[in-house]
Amino acid sequence: MLDYAAVSQPGAVDLSVTLGALRLSNPILAASGTFGYGIEFADVVDLNRLGGIVVKGLSLEPMEGAPPPRLCETPSGMLNAVGLQNIGVRAFVVEKLPKLRQYRTPVIANVFGHTTDEYVEVIRVLEGAEGLAAYELNISCPNVKRGGLQYGSDPGLAGEVVEAARKVAKRPLWVKLSPNVTDITAIARAAESAGADALTVANTYPAMSVDFQTRKSRLGNPTGGLSGPAIRPITMKLVYEVSRAVRIPVIGLGGISSPEDILEYLVVGATAVQVGTAGFWDPKALQRLVEGLPKACSELKVIHINELRGSFNAENR
Ligand SMILES: Cc1cc2nc3c(=O)[nH]c(=O)nc-3n(C[C@H](O)[C@H](O)[C@H](O)COP(=O)(O)O)c2cc1C
Repeated sequence: MLDYAAVSQPGAVDLSVTLGALRLSNPILAASGTFGYGIEFADVVDLNRLGGIVVKGLSLEPMEGAPPPRLCETPSGMLNAVGLQNIGVRAFVVEKLPKLRQYRTPVIANVFGHTTDEYVEVIRVLEGAEGLAAYELNISCPNVKRGGLQYGSDPGLAGEVVEAARKVAKRPLWVKLSPNVTDITAIARAAESAGADALTVANTYPAMSVDFQTRKSRLGNPTGGLSGPAIRPITMKLVYEVSRAVRIPVIGLGGISSPEDILEYLVVGATAVQVGTAGFWDPKALQRLVEGLPKACSELKVIHINELRGSFNAENR
């Protein structure tokens, strides 16, 4: 018999999780695009306490991004139109990665392109660099060679880009799905069959916010991506569906701001989570979550965080 009294101390909770070949000290990662290249936050949070850091999306060439304003607040959430601004993969390797290597936290490179070749080239450059734990493919991007059809909206295109990336990537390959699809499980299965090691669910939701007096968008672009607590219940359903459709681990993200939010994602099938928008109103959010998770687990008498994964009970009678 387990002595629950002895283990119900927060300090006794084992938070470690494994995502394929990768072991994380805890299941909480910084989400891409919301945490810079990680090092910018070194004075705000203890980077070594995080489960992992997913850096800003990297493209082959530097990108200037979208015109301002790039963010606007919405009820229980936020819209962004950053336009995937980034310094480009080569500058990342030279300027950012050496500093990130000083920390023991796994760093995951978020990768995107406008063609399949571009995705492949970005990974090729990163393959020559030390200090990365995995790649995360952002497939919520239009393929310019296919009339702008998003990779993440079509199982064939998603499979094509994951297969091509798989051929050059020696490190674990995660695929970040778009939530803006009719059946996310079809895309999830295509990514799994093409060699993905884990799936990140999900990106932001296309949305807009308009000032009726000026008749203008509140963003520099007409539309943007919705994130934050407003999307949590919608994304949670996607995590539930994807977890049941594939065998590879699922990383849930969308609107997490408390330890209890993390437990909910784990219960519906996530192995780990990422946190983005919460850091915009509480810059220390990631560290607060890492510190608060053991207590939330011990209150549930959970000894190992993995006990929660997929424990959802569909019979609600
Ligand atoms: C300002 C901002 C920039 C983002 N940039 C990226 C990006 O470069 N690549 C990517 O895959 N996701 C990007 N995202 C999406 C987030 O990683 C995350 O999927 C989304 O915000 C939902 O999580 P959250 O509600 O915790 O923020 C961005 C989100 C925000 C708010």
